[in-house]
Order: sequence, then C-alpha cells, then structure tokens
Amino acid sequence: MSKAEAYITLEDRYGAHNYHPLPVVLERGKGVMVWDVNGKAYFDFLSAYSAVNQGHGHPKILNALIDQAQQLALTSRAFYNAQLGPFEKAITERFGYHKVLAMNSGAEAVETAIKLCRRWAYDVKGVPANQAKIIVCGENFHGRTSTIISFSSDPDSFAGFGPYMPGFELIPYNDLPALEAALADPHVAGFLVEPIQGEAGVVVPDEGFIPSAAALCKKANVLFIADEIQSGIGRTGSWLATCGDCQCETGSCERQTSTYTRADILILGKALSGGVYPVSAVLADDAIMLTIKPGQHGSTFGGNPIAAKVAQAALEVMEEEALMQNARARGKQFREGLTERIGHLHLIRGIRGKGLLNAVLINDIEDSTTAWDICIALRDEGILAKPTHGNIIRFAPPLVITEGEMEEALNAMQKVFSAFEHH
Ligand SMILES: Cc1ncc(COP(=O)(O)O)c(C=O)c1O
Repeated sequence: MSKAEAYITLEDRYGAHNYHPLPVVLERGKGVMVWDVNGKAYFDFLSAYSAVNQGHGHPKILNALIDQAQQLALTSRAFYNAQLGPFEKAITERFGYHKVLAMNSGAEAVETAIKLCRRWAYDVKGVPANQAKIIVCGENFHGRTSTIISFSSDPDSFAGFGPYMPGFELIPYNDLPALEAALADPHVAGFLVEPIQGEAGVVVPDEGFIPSAAALCKKANVLFIADEIQSGIGRTGSWLATCGDCQCETGSCERQTSTYTRADILILGKALSGGVYPVSAVLADDAIMLTIKPGQHGSTFGGNPIAAKVAQAALEVMEEEALMQNARARGKQFREGLTERIGHLHLIRGIRGKGLLNAVLINDIEDSTTAWDICIALRDEGILAKPTHGNIIRFAPPLVITEGEMEEALNAMQKVFSAFEHH
C-alpha cells in the first residue's frame, strides 16, 4: 500500500463518510501551491472553498497566530480580552457598520444573522410573535445546521434530516418579480441571499439583481442579508461581491460608489480566517445588532484573542498586497485564457464567474462522472479542483496567484480538457 493509500484507508476506516474527497493526501502548502505526501506539487484551485484567499502559510497571518497563541489563546466572553476590541474597530470601519458579532464557522454566522433578523422583526418591525418569515433562494448554500438545511432546495442537504424549521420561503434565484410577490407578506423580516451562488456552481445573477433586490427590501421594510462567506474578502475582485463592478485601485474605498449595494446584515467567514483559524462575523448597525442583549447569543470560542488577531492580519494582508486588484486581473486572465484554449471544445458548455471565483460547465448529463474524471486527470497534471453541483468544476485559486503561475496552470488545463474531448 502506498503512503497516500495508507492515509486514505485510515480516514475511510475511522472517519465519518460525510465527504467524498479527491484521492490526494496533502501535507504542505505555500502560497498557491500544495504538496502531497510524496512531494508532488499542485496548484490549489479550490483554496479550501475560498478560505485561503491570502495563500497558504502567509507569514504575517501565521505570525499573528503563533504570537497570540503564545500570549493568550482563549478567555471566553466571560471576560474582556485585549484583541477583540481592536479587531471589532478595524472590521466595522473597514466595512462601514456600527457593530460586529464574531463567531467561528460560516454556518454559525448565518444562524446568528437569522436570529438577529427575527429579533429585529419582533422588537422593531412589530411582526407578531413567532410569525417572522425569511425569504431565501433556490439552490442556496448557507451551511449545514438543522435550521439552515431546512430551507435548502438540495435533497442531499436536507433529505432525511427532518423535521424542519419553519419560517422560510424559497423563491427562485435572480427572480425580482418572485421576490416582489413574496415581500407582499407583512410578516417577512428578511431576504437572505448569496450575491454569487458558489456551491450551486458559481451562478452570477443579472447585473441589476442585487441592487434591485435590496431596493425592494428597503421599500418593504425588510432586511437585506448578504451571505458573503464565499464571495467576500476579495474573492470576486472587490472587498465584497456586493461592491458590484467597482474598479477601485486602492482597496481602501469607503464603498460609496454607485455600484455598491449595502446589506443591512453582512455575513463573512472563510477568508476572514486567513485560511488558518476559523473566524466568522456578522455586521449590522445598532438598530439591528442591539436587539440581542447580554446572555441571548454567543459561542465559547467566538471572538477569542487568536481569532481576533488572525482576522485583523487577514484583512490587512488583503489591502497591503492589493489582492482585490490581483483577483480582478488574474480572473480576467483565467476566463480569457481558458476560453481561448478550450472554449471551442464540444465538451465545454460555458466558462463563467467573477474575479477568481470561476467555473467551467461540462457539456454532459448532470449526473455523469465526467467532471469528477476531469478533476482526477487535472490532479495528475498538478491542478487541484473539485466538481460542484451538476457537471460543473469550480476554479478558485488563492488570490496571490501570479500571472506566470496562472499561465502555467492554464496550459495544464488545456492539456487535460483537450484530451477529454476525444473520450
Ligand atoms: C455562501 C456560504 N455560506 C455559508 C457557508 C458555510 O460555511 P461553513 O462551512 O464555514 O459553515 C458556505 C460554505 O461553503 C458558503 O459558501
């Protein structure tokens, strides 16, 4: 048995079978590269589902982690700590909100946003007790808790896990008339949406969808809640996907451009962690955030000193290294370069995305194994990517990828996709 097979056998034997990993066993990473247990190098085109935007092993983020771990790791929120306040100031100023509530995983942050939205509905909007409703979109992905899967439209996520949490209404994504109709119910408290649907296969809505949806919500006195856990922190070429087609060059903009849509509740996770330590956050203004009082919500690890220090470093790196701008330039290079190389193939149904959140749509029946087989072949050529729903492969490398690295990766992809054309 090879070294890799031995590790795979261990996970298979002793771990729950809740994932279907690509057969590659990784043990080291630096920047855009990862290495397996035999020393073979790969371009990481998944970035842990967009959590490693700043690249593997970023020295500034690692130093923040190590320094703080040696100083003080965990206090719980029973006491104040010397890192949380400075982080809260930095992130609220960065994104322009009165307050932040720090959690750990993305799903926990979504849960927090749901609780905040409901609480605001009862305390501020005046919705009768237990009647608040939140509108969500088909094909959404917001996490794996029992409340969140209650409003999933994907049977893999929800089937067999009932009974389900009531109080959610599904409408199709990118459908303004459906949203307008759903908003007519006075018990609606919020509209929870991904500005780009990542897990659904990098589904980019029409240009006007997000701003118009937010405007409809405002008119109906309903909270517009943006889940930017995957699309935020530079991934699509701006701080947030809700920045729209902002071309800011400084990265320090105040988001006052005409393309920016401000969410009432903004949810961040993944790359807020710098790829090293789970941190998620919910941002809102006082009228919403202060509806939750002491003792009514929390998490033992939420807002701990390591998380606060790491997240602050993770945000600083984005700006110091102009990673939003690089995501924009490399994303354009990716889509243009790949279209030129493989766009003509019968195998390719489309190439879409924004910034460095992109996907290739395979021209085959949805439940064929083609996308998976291509990912295995890509692995053999030193590219790691994973199929997402249907026959779609997502390509989302760390935002630190250089022009030369992207060119090398594109050439490897051309080789693999061209070979599959004749399968
Ligand atoms: C848009 C979105 N929301 C929420 C989540 C859940 O985050 P986590 O896996 O950290 O709970 C994800 C994860 O893929 C996501 O893409």
